[in-house]
Amino acid sequence: MTTPNLPTSMATPAYVLDVAALKRNLETVARLKRESGAKVLLATKAWAMPDAFPLMRDTFDGSTASGEYEARMGFEDFGKEVHVYAPAYAPGEVERLIAHAHHIYFNSPEQIAQFGPIARAAGAKIGVRINPGYSNATLGGALYDPCAPCSRFGTTRADIDKLPWDEIDIFHAHTLCESLADGSVGLIEHVAREFAPYIRKVKAVNFGGGHFINKPGYDLDRLIAAIRAFREQFNVEVFLEPGGGIVVNTGYLVATVIGLHWNEKNLAILDTSASCHMPDVLEVPYTPDIIGAGKPGEHAHDYVLGGKTCMTGDVIGEYSFPEPLQVGSRIVFTDMMQYSFVKNTTFNGTPRPDLAILDEDGTYRVVRSFGYEDYRQQLGS
Ligand SMILES: Cc1ncc(COP(=O)(O)O)c(C=O)c1O
Repeated sequence: MTTPNLPTSMATPAYVLDVAALKRNLETVARLKRESGAKVLLATKAWAMPDAFPLMRDTFDGSTASGEYEARMGFEDFGKEVHVYAPAYAPGEVERLIAHAHHIYFNSPEQIAQFGPIARAAGAKIGVRINPGYSNATLGGALYDPCAPCSRFGTTRADIDKLPWDEIDIFHAHTLCESLADGSVGLIEHVAREFAPYIRKVKAVNFGGGHFINKPGYDLDRLIAAIRAFREQFNVEVFLEPGGGIVVNTGYLVATVIGLHWNEKNLAILDTSASCHMPDVLEVPYTPDIIGAGKPGEHAHDYVLGGKTCMTGDVIGEYSFPEPLQVGSRIVFTDMMQYSFVKNTTFNGTPRPDLAILDEDGTYRVVRSFGYEDYRQQLGS
């Protein structure tokens, strides 16, 4: 990966959106929509940077939310169709949601019975999430597989006839995670084969997220052909709602070495943290790439990189560098837009990284910095 043109004077840590890379990914979405006829929503749970929404608004049909705050942000900042799904809604949530979301998806016959009438009276479209029993999550095993045993997501086959199909507009099946075209096409064909009588009762089908459409190796033509065939067979509208697949490889987390240490190995301590700023590194787990660094032994100088929190396991990984690291050395982690700053914590009072945008002309803009007051206000009065 080429080194981004970042200012030497920039403050770290900082998440930096690379607009040129985002625009390349948006071209994939535009082609997908144009050639398949599907509608595409941005899943803001994976990435939400309202300052960049104006770049995306024309490409997407809307956004999809996991609850009322994301729905409100989608309504106010994205400004197009807002869809929302949660495995259960809290008392009062649907009453508040209807101000912002006009496609509300329910998880079970009980949730529809309880809250469907409120959504319907407000003129919202009613969706139902089905667990189609199709597993293809390529990341994290059962951790990210919505169809894992005992999953709480979606009405299972056993209960499907308890749903009030006359009142349901949208059949929803989200089962993928970082899946290539095999997974996307497999899901579409599985739903067509196994659920045809139910598809004939609805006006639209939402095949969820997890379609890793901008990952090198994703065969977009296969997805387009599968959607076209599905639409022709059932004459329904098709939605996709990817998150990670929109922003994969569109930005960085830029950090600085603030301390060096030795305990059996060379250790470098950064002004960032896996625990606070890259939670998926520990959760998945995985080792993110660093521009100019290699695997241990690949270059002359090996280091274990760790965060500045008190958690022993706050370790990002082991890398090698062509030159020895020094206090002040800059470290640029790649692919740091998806599921990163949307999951930040301030454990240990660790400052949150800046949110910044690197424009195509090289302009670097910090759109938000976080200070002591941001940390303090979340802890009480
Ligand atoms: C219902 C639903 N839709 C869409 C997404 C977005 O998935 P991804 O970011 O993997 O594309 C998720 C992720 O968990 C989800 O649960």
